[in-house]
Amino acid sequence: MIGNMNDKNLNSKFDSRQFRESLSAFVTGVTIVTTSSANNEKVGMTVNSFNSVSLDPPLILWSIGRDSNCFDTFMDAQSFAVHVLTKNQAALSDKFAQTGVDKFEDIVCNTGLNGIPILSDFSVCFQCTTRNLYDGGDHVIIVGQVETIENKDQEPLIFYKGNYLAL
Ligand SMILES: Cc1cc2nc3c(=O)[nH]c(=O)nc-3n(C[C@H](O)[C@H](O)[C@H](O)COP(=O)(O)O)c2cc1C
Repeated sequence: MIGNMNDKNLNSKFDSRQFRESLSAFVTGVTIVTTSSANNEKVGMTVNSFNSVSLDPPLILWSIGRDSNCFDTFMDAQSFAVHVLTKNQAALSDKFAQTGVDKFEDIVCNTGLNGIPILSDFSVCFQCTTRNLYDGGDHVIIVGQVETIENKDQEPLIFYKGNYLAL
């Protein structure tokens, strides 16, 4: 069954600090997801909710907070790019996790599908078309179909308990 099967008040069992701390025990990589708005403004954000979904067709997902400034642009975007960061890109990850700043200042980009900005440094870049949007509470889950892959096979940046690590 698909749907809101268990929409109970979770706060009765644990608080949000315990929930966040427990989630942070799950080791992830770090990505920057970019797109552009209808008037060609570049937007992007640091994301660690990225994951694989399907091999055939090739699908990935990530989730975006409804309160992020980029939210409306990603809801309207036909395409987006997921850049898997290398172990040397912790500062770039911090930059793209800020709000209310010009994240693309001093950053040279190439142009991808439908004019989306592509960073010059990454380990892997997946260019995707937006396929599905699903309600995810205070986030929306975005499923993308992978259209192109550029894989430079670099050592990854790792995120664990709120800190960056290398392998
Ligand atoms: C390591 C890391 C992972 C993050 N992952 C996500 C994520 O998966 N989804 C999300 O909405 N925000 C995530 N964030 C927070 C966003 O990067 C941040 O809220 C966003 O850049 C705000 O920018 P905006 O308001 O300009 O959109 C993450 C932040 C960090 C540092």
